[in-house]
Amino acid sequence: MKKLLFIFTSGIYLTACSVDPEIKPIITDEDVKEIIPEGWPTPNYNFGNNPLTKDGFILGRTLFYDPLLSADNTISCGSCHQQFAGFSHSGHDVSHGIFGLLGTRNAPAIQNLNWNPTFMHDGGVISLEMMPLAPITNPVEMNETMANVITKLSASGKYKQLFTNAFGDDIINSQRIFKAIAQFQGTLYSYNSKYDKVKSGKEGFTSQEQSGYNLFVQKCASCHKEPLFSDYDYRNNGLSINVLYNDSGRAHITGNPNDRYKFKTPSLRNIERTSPYMHDGRFTTLNQCLDHYTSGIVISPTIDPQLQTGISLTAQDKSDLIAFLKTLTDTKFLTDKRFSENN
Ligand code: HEC
Ligand code: HEC
Repeated sequence: MKKLLFIFTSGIYLTACSVDPEIKPIITDEDVKEIIPEGWPTPNYNFGNNPLTKDGFILGRTLFYDPLLSADNTISCGSCHQQFAGFSHSGHDVSHGIFGLLGTRNAPAIQNLNWNPTFMHDGGVISLEMMPLAPITNPVEMNETMANVITKLSASGKYKQLFTNAFGDDIINSQRIFKAIAQFQGTLYSYNSKYDKVKSGKEGFTSQEQSGYNLFVQKCASCHKEPLFSDYDYRNNGLSINVLYNDSGRAHITGNPNDRYKFKTPSLRNIERTSPYMHDGRFTTLNQCLDHYTSGIVISPTIDPQLQTGISLTAQDKSDLIAFLKTLTDTKFLTDKRFSENN
């Protein structure tokens, strides 16, 4: 009886191990390629010096989800950048990193990064490939050194194989780590929202979404510029100074007083999922964001000229705008198994 049971359970085990395309998609080179959706501008980063391959992408994804990149092996990039939340940190106003330490800023969504001329809320990082260095070495995020990361990865047979698959031999160095993560991050394209389908003529807005879109074009799109929903400029959108952090924004990088309290305009793609909002995560709902623009603007010397008198919106306008903003949710992107952990 015992023997029979053993045979039976090992049978199940074998079945569970066979590759089920629903659970374990097999990535092909076709699944990993540079995409420039129709009508979008030329990206800032392309894969010319970092040839995109499925093995490079898989290595990058494995690194992205591996807590080994942090000092105590508990925090991965994916801890703060969660796919279902557009790769932002759901429900966390500011980042929570190693040893439970708090940062001072909200983890932004990660999507369509190749179009970003700069990264971070203040544009403090200017290269997609160098991007991982900041969180890995940040004392309140992963608090690790590249030398240690390389030592840990080099001790792993799994990584020797993954690096060999991606680069032809098992040499593990910073450049390869950064290039592989860039292949994963740089192919996190979100371009399948309802908005995109409306633009390509495949679907239509409801009348409420259409009226929200019309308002958006008039009142928001100068900064949240289509199709990426950001102009990638730094602007002061009138938030009160958060005394907890006194974050000077862009001025932190440039030292220029005219840049004080200016932050990079964030994309609004997947905005329904990326709460909490603003660089310090002060708002939890889209309604609060709109209330800020209608009645919360604080005037200061660097306020954006377009926002001097706030933006007037009726209650109806606000619900129409929110209906439109929800058309930017890209469910395909948020659930795409190629981008998930454990694949
Ligand atoms: C502890 C939480 C945390 C971890 C871990 C973390 N990040 Fe972040 N990430 C943040 C925060 C917070 C910001 C914004 C920082 C700022 O503006 O100064 C950010 C910003 C970014 C951005 C810039 C996005 C943009 O639009 O400007 C990218 C890309 C990014 N992180 C990738 C990564 C990668 C890759 C890793 C792993 C190597 C990682 N992050 C680990 C919290 C985290
Ligand atoms: C003058 C430029 C400008 C205009 C006009 C503007 N925004 Fe913004 N918006 C910004 C900037 C800059 C931020 C980021 C501020 C920060 O993080 O401190 C932002 C942040 C947001 C956020 C939070 C995004 C996130 O991921 O945290 C939402 C939502 C938003 N804006 C919606 C709108 C809507 C809707 C309109 C029109 C009613 C609008 N904005 C008009 C510049 C602008």
